[in-house]
Amino acid sequence: MKELRLQQGLSQDELSIYSGIDRSQITKIEQGKVNVTLETIEKLSRALQTKTSVLLEETKMLHPFVKWAGGKSQLLEKLHLYLPKKYNNYFEPFIGGGSFFLNLKPGKAIINDFNSELVCAYRCFQDEDDFNNLKRELKNHESNHSEEYYYHIRSMDKDDNFLSLPIYIRAARMIYLNKACFNGLYRVNSKGYFNVPSGRKKKVNTYDEENFILLREYFKNNDITILNTDFEEALKNAKANDFIYFDPPYDVIENKNSFTSYAKNSFDKNEQIRLAKLYKKLSNKGVFVMLSNHNTTFINELYKDFNIHVVNAKRLINSKADGRGDVEEVIITNY
Ligand SMILES: C[S@@+](CC[C@H](N)C(=O)[O-])C[C@H]1O[C@@H](n2cnc3c(N)ncnc32)[C@H](O)[C@@H]1O
Repeated sequence: MKELRLQQGLSQDELSIYSGIDRSQITKIEQGKVNVTLETIEKLSRALQTKTSVLLEETKMLHPFVKWAGGKSQLLEKLHLYLPKKYNNYFEPFIGGGSFFLNLKPGKAIINDFNSELVCAYRCFQDEDDFNNLKRELKNHESNHSEEYYYHIRSMDKDDNFLSLPIYIRAARMIYLNKACFNGLYRVNSKGYFNVPSGRKKKVNTYDEENFILLREYFKNNDITILNTDFEEALKNAKANDFIYFDPPYDVIENKNSFTSYAKNSFDKNEQIRLAKLYKKLSNKGVFVMLSNHNTTFINELYKDFNIHVVNAKRLINSKADGRGDVEEVIITNY
């Protein structure tokens, strides 16, 4: 919507006058923070001299298709606040559930994660056949669901041929386990096997049809590259005026049951140091960089040369009750 408004050379105030929609509401719509009624869309379409159907597609919000540890839904508003005003390509090297990326819906992006199963799932939205096969497999899992079935599907990664299975099979397995497991958490053991127990749900819903269709439309109509590699490798083509959002596994807060084993390699202090060095290097290159992490002394020390904004965030996933609740986070920018 913002693009359409700027094409018409209108400010938010002017669009507010022409459409009769409150300016603060227009800001929220452009930031993807609110769902919009059809009446509002009709008013805005008239003011922007465009078809209602065009705006309808643009204003629908996308949501993550998995529940992911470290999910950023609670922090979206703050992240929007600290976005650079203008940038070229969007990079997100630790995509996880991708809540910020899906909220932002960039036209050109490079997303990445070390977790191959998660990457298989993102890739299914890029191809019509994989997408349809994924939905069919998920329906299959839903109708076969039981505790026994869960453990049967969970053990698929022990098979030698697992990595050569079609991506929609691996994706469906991952999404099903994510929805059916205890506390919705993806965790692998030291051998790299998914090891979360069953959530003991009687019935499992694996996906939301409308969100899936919107995700498919988004990946079909935009230029999105999906990588499955280490974060440093994923950023080797980032140039001046590109924008990178880093949401790495969190630095561990002492005495908190923090969660850092998303993938086989756990993200320790040395990894945080390697990331901070890369952050500095990219910053010197003229790339806009934004990073979120826990507000720990270690992180403050690593990024002391940059702008550190302290924000509160609600942690959604944690297997121990005492780890829940508000945790301070930082959003660090070089601009
Ligand atoms: C905090 S999560 C991302 C959360 C996500 N932004 C969200 O909103 O749900 C961190 C992600 O980094 C990935 N990861 C861990 N080590 C990595 C590495 N060396 N390179 C790339 N990705 C890595 C994990 O698999 C995990 O999905």
